[in-house]
Amino acid sequence: MQFFIDSADIDEIQDALSMGMCDGVTTNPSLVAKTGKPFRKVIDAILDIVDGPVSLEVTTLSYDEIMAQARELAAIAENVVVKLPLTPPGLKACRTCYSEGIATNVTLCFSPTQALLAAKAGATYISPFVGRLDDISSDGMRLIEEILSIYEHYEFETQVLVASVRHPQHLAQAAAMGAHVATIPHKVIGQLFKHPLTDLGLDQFMADWKKVPAG
Ligand code: E4P
Repeated sequence: MQFFIDSADIDEIQDALSMGMCDGVTTNPSLVAKTGKPFRKVIDAILDIVDGPVSLEVTTLSYDEIMAQARELAAIAENVVVKLPLTPPGLKACRTCYSEGIATNVTLCFSPTQALLAAKAGATYISPFVGRLDDISSDGMRLIEEILSIYEHYEFETQVLVASVRHPQHLAQAAAMGAHVATIPHKVIGQLFKHPLTDLGLDQFMADWKKVPAG
């Protein structure tokens, strides 16, 4: 399973890389805005240190404008993945990107049929947002299960990128289901390490080590 980090913050990305927990990065306009820095400055810094796929989102809605931005973003670096909206113009652009060899990540997916459309359009990744579904009393992880089973039936090459991950349980379930990728906020990566028995056990080992006679 690949771990992407869902962040535009260079310190967070660097930290995840140094732990070996960052196979790629996903960004979106909100994450870039949070840095308070200009878009180009933010993405140049990310692309300087990340070799894996880096998703950069288009910020326009018409097909022609999406394609202009997609080509511009894809030309920045070989590992750029263009993030496209799950709309008719977005999926039309996805198809064009596919024929031009541009990697894509179709974002804001909330239903199995949307995911089916993205796969048929040739998306490299589909991003179902599990946390936002849970937020409205729906079942985000059930959606992942459904998409994985549809993709398996028809042997689509599109990879399921579990997005809007809010807690370790999302990740545990995604891994158990065989999702290809999860994009994880830095805070959740920290939570994945934690177990009270690990802390207790370590406290005990450290205390006992002090009792070992020197010599
Ligand atoms: C995915 O690519 C998105 O950037 C992200 O996972 C959205 O997560 P949120 O619902 O926590 O904003």
